[in-house]
Amino acid sequence: MADKKKMSVAEMLAAARKADGDGSASDAEESTPVESASEEAAPAKKPAPAKSSSGGRPSVAEMMAMARGAKAGGDAEKSAAKPAAKKPAAKAKPAAAKAAKPSKPAEPRDTASILAAAKKSSKAGPMSKSEAAAKEKADPKPKPKIVVPPMPEKPAYAMAKPPVKAKGKAPEETRRGFLVVGMVGLFGVLVLWTVETVRFMFPNVLREPPSKFKVGLPDAFPAGQVNTKFKAQFGVWIANAEYNGQQQIYALRSVCTHLGCTPNWLEAEQKYKCPCHGSGFYKDGINFEGPAPRPLERFAIRIADDGQIEIDKSRMFFEEKGEWSDASCYIPA
Ligand code: FES
Repeated sequence: MADKKKMSVAEMLAAARKADGDGSASDAEESTPVESASEEAAPAKKPAPAKSSSGGRPSVAEMMAMARGAKAGGDAEKSAAKPAAKKPAAKAKPAAAKAAKPSKPAEPRDTASILAAAKKSSKAGPMSKSEAAAKEKADPKPKPKIVVPPMPEKPAYAMAKPPVKAKGKAPEETRRGFLVVGMVGLFGVLVLWTVETVRFMFPNVLREPPSKFKVGLPDAFPAGQVNTKFKAQFGVWIANAEYNGQQQIYALRSVCTHLGCTPNWLEAEQKYKCPCHGSGFYKDGINFEGPAPRPLERFAIRIADDGQIEIDKSRMFFEEKGEWSDASCYIPA
């Protein structure tokens, strides 16, 4: 028997439609193996109403169920051995049961529309931009707002620390201090330079005690004594002693004739003694020991108008030259 030969779904559909007298050649051509696969899935999703209940054209599911039922009846042994063949029959049962409901009238649907509906509902995968825009237009649902939670606050150790100020004065104050010190120093140098310039314009003046001075009345100088009162101030000894058999008041210069040291009057030894090299001079000034080569010098002396003794250091008298005999260098006592 030709029915016993395994038939594809398309062949079964074509046979069913031919048997109904409504099967057209175009339907048979459209039912490609791909469509048959979708047809298998379509009745499972949406069971169509049965023809017997509505009285119209049977749906694909019904036709498939009928074809599979005929195939199962003709090939009982094979269907019992192959549980896979029972599956579509089992799927067809609820479809047939649902189709038996008389409430909904069956709509005339052809295979092309069913396949198109199945394709439309089962399209998956990426969609183009135009498709996405169309879908977005068709779906007026507002997009849910994305609520971003607030960021947590930074911990204390992560906060930016303020810059640490340097100890002591600020750099600006230090710079100003240096500027002030520099200006003061410059001003001081200018003042000193001006003073020294003015001083250079005038001659140097050696301020010395006056060469003439009064030492008092002649009674203040008794015979045989040496007065050392004016040595420190005027460098002079006033003595009242005998020279060449004559008592005289005279003024001796207190400078050693060796190298210029200042001798001392030794009252106990009655002599002038130089501390530098040991030269010794008598009371009248004549040298007698040590390296001193000559006697001491005398200054001019006279009785002033007021009766006092006046000494004139601008004039000196030398014994080795015989000048001590000049009356200008002594006062007779
Ligand atoms: Fe007076 Fe030499 S200076 S003894």
